[in-house]
Parts: sequence; structure tokens; C-alpha cells
Amino acid sequence: MSLKRVMSGTRTTGALHIGHYFGALKNWLELQKSYDCYFGVMDWHGMTTAYKSTENIPGWNRDVFAELLAWGIDPEKSTIFIQSQVPEHLELFMIFANLTPMGWLERVPTWKDAEEEAKASDTHNLGRFSYPVLQAADIALYRGDFVPVGQDQVAHLELNREIIRRFNHIYKGKLPEPKVLLTENPLVPGLDGRKMSKSYGNGIDLSEDEKSLGKKIRAMPTDPKRARREDPGEPNDCNVYTYHKLFSSKDDLKWVEEGCRTAGIGCGDCKGRLLENINGLCRKPREMKKQLLNNPDQLDSIIAAGCEKARQEAQATLKIVKESMKLA
Ligand code: TRP
Ligand code: SF4
Repeated sequence: MSLKRVMSGTRTTGALHIGHYFGALKNWLELQKSYDCYFGVMDWHGMTTAYKSTENIPGWNRDVFAELLAWGIDPEKSTIFIQSQVPEHLELFMIFANLTPMGWLERVPTWKDAEEEAKASDTHNLGRFSYPVLQAADIALYRGDFVPVGQDQVAHLELNREIIRRFNHIYKGKLPEPKVLLTENPLVPGLDGRKMSKSYGNGIDLSEDEKSLGKKIRAMPTDPKRARREDPGEPNDCNVYTYHKLFSSKDDLKWVEEGCRTAGIGCGDCKGRLLENINGLCRKPREMKKQLLNNPDQLDSIIAAGCEKARQEAQATLKIVKESMKLA
């Protein structure tokens, strides 16, 4: 019996950070054990907002690709590819664009909420508006059965399904309607407790080096009630504890809770443990990624093989699509 297929991707906007790990990568590593997975480095999606700095895109693509490999996405099990290297994405995008009513896109909450920001950042453009259409094409192109998303992305996926359903309806097509695979997507705040954002500089990259990581953790604000070492604090009022909940064991959490509330530990101890635990998770992938980036020929051949494998599947789908449309 052939495995069900999972399709997902990450848009290219720079190096992956810990939010990407907990929201996507961690789930992908699990999913590749039991599904036939397609994971895309989605640079066209990145360019909907980064269209003025396209010179960064090739570097970002390689960086993200190496990151996925370093963390254990296995090209023998999963197909990893770069969206722009598979031109069929754009072809299917245009086919879907024609059958998507403007009203469907106008009602997308992520568009409505972002309109003002989009105008201010000069990204109130057709590409960004049609983001969900391209995403529907991504999924349909690999005939994905399941798409892992967090609760916040369910509305998006519903629209992706509608588009694919409308294609099937108009052309008597047989593209699978992708189902949501609801995944845990914990909120990962920035180091200062605000929303994690590149413009605030309050994030942690997955390949952040140990020195810079240590500096960032030491600078994190703590519960202001702990002005002095002997003042007790409340972990729930401290972002360091929020991070412990992501990276630390149950025993460590207990140690923080007790130590903080009784002033048995200092904030320095608490941060030191957090730092150890983050390094424990990231150290190996960090080294592996360095090795990959230091061997560009080897990396390039892995990338090329992934894109080629994806392209074969994409071309097969497009052939079926065009037959349904009687274009063939
Ligand atoms: N929208 C996703 C993100 O914000 C990226 C993405 C592009 C995607 N195409 C997809 C996710 C197809 C799942 C399926 O990261
Ligand atoms: Fe925060 Fe830890 Fe200090 Fe408590 S001990 S205030 S949880 S850093």
C-alpha cells in the first residue's frame, strides 16, 4: 500500500528561527516517519513581500535547505525542493487564478488584517493578494492528501480546498482535496516577550552560535519582583520560564518553579539551565549545517536532486490537469 502524502513548506524570508522549529520543522520530522512527504522552500511566497531584495533569495534558499537537512529531513525519505526551481508551480497557479473569485481572496482574514501594514510596507500587491492561490497550486501539484498546519492557518487551508474543489467541479478533475492535519503550534514569543519579529531583533535563529545565544539569553528580562537575588518571583510572569516550557524537561520545569518561588535559585542559574537545554537541542544540527554550507558542491547536488524529483511529480500532475481541461 502506498503511503498517504503530506505537503508543506516554509516561505523564504531568511534563516529559520526557533518559531519555525516548533511550528513546522518539529512536526515534519515526525511526519516523515509515516508519510510520503513533500517539503518546499517557498521562495515565490517569500518574494511577495521581499521583492525589492531578491538578491538575498538564492542565499536564503540554500541556507534553509541546509537547515532542513541538518535537522534530519532525509532526502531519501522526503522530497525537499525549491519552489522557483519547479516552474510548474506558476503554471498551475495561473490555472487556479482564473477560477478563483476575487471575493474569496478579499475575505481571507490574513489579508484583511494585513492590508494597512501591506500598504505601509509597499507590499499591497497582486502577488501577496493571491498568496493562497499559489499555495493551493503548491498542494495540488504534489496531489497532497494532508497539509500540517496550526490552528491559525486553518482558514487558509479551507480556501485552498475550495479552489481545488472548484477545479474538480469545473473540469471534472480528480485532484485530492487536501485535509488539515492539525498540528501543535505553540506561540513562541520574542526574547523580550513581544511578538518575535526580525525588525525587533528579538528572535533566535536555529543556527545561532553559542556565544551570541548566551548573550541573548543573559539579556532577557525577568520577573521584576526579583530585583534582588533573595526576592522570590513568579515563573508565570517571566518569559524565561515560557522558554523553559519549550526547551526543558519536566524535572527542570519543577526546578525552576520551586527555585524561583522560594528564591532558591538565581535568575542567572535559571538562564544558565535554559541555555544548556537550547544548546543541547541545537548543537548537532548547527554543526551539521556548517558542514553542509562548507561543501557547496555536495549541497548543490542534493538540492538539484530534490528539485528534479519534485519536478517529475509536478509534470505528471500538470499533464493530468491539462487533460481534465482538454488542453492536452
Ligand atoms: N504559507 C506557508 C508559510 O507561511 C508556506 C507555504 C507555501 C505552504 N505553500 C505551502 C504551507 C503549501 C503548506 C502548503 O510558511
Ligand atoms: Fe524568571 Fe527564572 Fe528568574 Fe524566575 S528564576 S524570574 S523564572 S529567570
